[in-house]
Amino acid sequence: MKKILTGVLTLYLTLQLHAEDGHSLWLRKKAGLPVTVTCAKNSATLTIAKQELQQGWQGKPGASIVLSLVKDKALKSDGFRLSDNNIQANTETGILYGVYELLRRQQTGQAITEEVCNPSYERRVLNHWDNPDGTIERGYAGHSIFWRKDNPFEVTDNDKRLWQEYARADASVAINGAVLNNVNASPLMLSKDYLLRLKAIADVLRPYGIKAYLSVKFSAPIVIGGLKTADPLNTEVSNWWKSKIKEIYALVPDFGGFLVKANSEGQPGPQDYNRTHADGANMMADAIKPYGGIIMWRAFVYNASDKDRARQAYTEFTPLDGQFHDNVIIQVKNGPIDFQPREPFSPLFGAMKKTAVMPEFQVTQEYLGQSVHLVFLAPMWEECLKTDTWQQGEGSTIARCTDGSLYPQQHTAIAGVANIGLDTNWCGHHFAQANWYAFGRLAWNNQLTSEQIADEWLRLTFYPELTDSSIYANDWVVHFLQPIKTMMLQSRVAAVNYMMPLGLHHIFSANEHYGPGPWWAPKRIRIDWTPPYYHKADSMGIGFDRTTTGSNAVSQYHEPLASLLNNIQTCPDIYLLWFHHVSWNYTMRSGRTLWEEICYHYDSGVKQVRQFQATWDEAQPYVDAERFAAVQSKLRQQTRNAQVWKDACLLYFQQFSRQPIPFDIERPVYELNDIIRADMTRKQ
Ligand code: GCU
Repeated sequence: MKKILTGVLTLYLTLQLHAEDGHSLWLRKKAGLPVTVTCAKNSATLTIAKQELQQGWQGKPGASIVLSLVKDKALKSDGFRLSDNNIQANTETGILYGVYELLRRQQTGQAITEEVCNPSYERRVLNHWDNPDGTIERGYAGHSIFWRKDNPFEVTDNDKRLWQEYARADASVAINGAVLNNVNASPLMLSKDYLLRLKAIADVLRPYGIKAYLSVKFSAPIVIGGLKTADPLNTEVSNWWKSKIKEIYALVPDFGGFLVKANSEGQPGPQDYNRTHADGANMMADAIKPYGGIIMWRAFVYNASDKDRARQAYTEFTPLDGQFHDNVIIQVKNGPIDFQPREPFSPLFGAMKKTAVMPEFQVTQEYLGQSVHLVFLAPMWEECLKTDTWQQGEGSTIARCTDGSLYPQQHTAIAGVANIGLDTNWCGHHFAQANWYAFGRLAWNNQLTSEQIADEWLRLTFYPELTDSSIYANDWVVHFLQPIKTMMLQSRVAAVNYMMPLGLHHIFSANEHYGPGPWWAPKRIRIDWTPPYYHKADSMGIGFDRTTTGSNAVSQYHEPLASLLNNIQTCPDIYLLWFHHVSWNYTMRSGRTLWEEICYHYDSGVKQVRQFQATWDEAQPYVDAERFAAVQSKLRQQTRNAQVWKDACLLYFQQFSRQPIPFDIERPVYELNDIIRADMTRKQ
């Protein structure tokens, strides 16, 4: 009987679920209940705030709510004071954020108590790696929403609608900045036509409290300015930047500033003129300072000659501590190499005590399955932000080293490399939207947990549009919310397991960074772009020796971390092969040998994804058909690819370990040579 009832209920619910294409993100339309909103002032931003409340109110029907712009010392920048009938802030954007917070709490059933909400970081910035021709570097969700090849300078109503939807989504999670073009910047971006388009975009973003920024090419004074040099100490060069900046601010008075990738991966920079990063950054910082702009100068630098790429950013930047002007922020990727599925934190965090430093996370899943794999990244960022650097004693977490609570910083900021494109659902994979959402939420409050973020996002994104939902709600929580949240929270570790467990890193194939390629080492490529440089597998063992007797990268960490990581007995398993070259027969904490442990990790990753498939299939009655089918299909591909990862890595490394794969593990189903061949034909 119970079964029949459940069946009937399921059928009824399935019929009620309208197909959804995901375009509305976590802002799906909900019939608003009546509410009266009063605000003494009027402006574009406040109008949006009022409309949002009127359209989305889920509180007491007929309630009255006051939006008050009152100066309050307890509020930082766009912070706000919240209660169930009042939102107070120092700024209009603060009011808007308060509105989104109130609506979020109503929709997710969270309590609304009197409280002050302040941002962890002043600038919460998405970095779009978008090119002027509309392509996106490491973009997996279609072309750029900002730039295009055909009719590049026409601004259509459709463009404006899309930019507005984008701005609204950003503002709803308090993202307040967008770098609109690739860090490998085209100098074209600084030309008149592109600046006019920048203005058109900035005009749409402004009411939502979002500042536009640009990535710039250091050699722009030569390439588009016709100068002979880009030497930062040359007066003509600094004058060129000053006049370019003046031109930009005349069009976009609230322009945020520049993001600069210099002397990195072939990009020009101050070192081309025997100047330092500080010389380059300060020249631009001084030029932009009168307008309140900032320079985000990236620390992603390495050159082929050094013996360990992981050491280089620290080696280049720490001697410059104290030399950067106060409107420069050094933008540091979470790990010392490059957004790998798991890296220890970059030792630069906390090490530069007289320099503003900001974390850079990658929202687009370049190394985490792109828009095919379901990988929720909040746990990775939470892991990073909560890690203790020990730079000022215990409790010197990366969050505290960067948000101004440990070191005085004129400006604080955090960046996320965006995963947004023209795809209907914006991010390619419905669940990749959760990473955009999570970046904003953590940028606002770097103490939030992944669990809370996943919970909110699922409630907002998947809760069915039913009104009489009390019984349903409970059922939905037990059969959808809880299992799917568990899946999201496990998904990053699953990816680490089937791609690069135990501290392995950078063993991707070729340049695509999608599938496995531990063998990939063409002669013409610099060796620090090839996987064997990183895994160093040989007949003795596997792993990169970064101990004091190896490259000594451990010494860049503060004690007690340096000693902990240096000692194979105390180094956490998750970083073991990052810091040590370990023999195949080394006995792990589990009692297994290293080789066995590697095998079990790959196997458990595949099993986890298989479980995700079952979890998703079981949740079918609670999801509209369109999104259900899309995610189901992606999970199938993810499982097939996880199997390829496992088979490729185990069969490849087995050539060195010369030991059997433990017999209780499912046998590989692919041939190593076939995987290698398929990879080569696809990539070459
Ligand atoms: C990675 C990525 C590049 C990108 C670079 C960067 O190496 O593969 O596409 O340009 O990071 O962050 O600058």
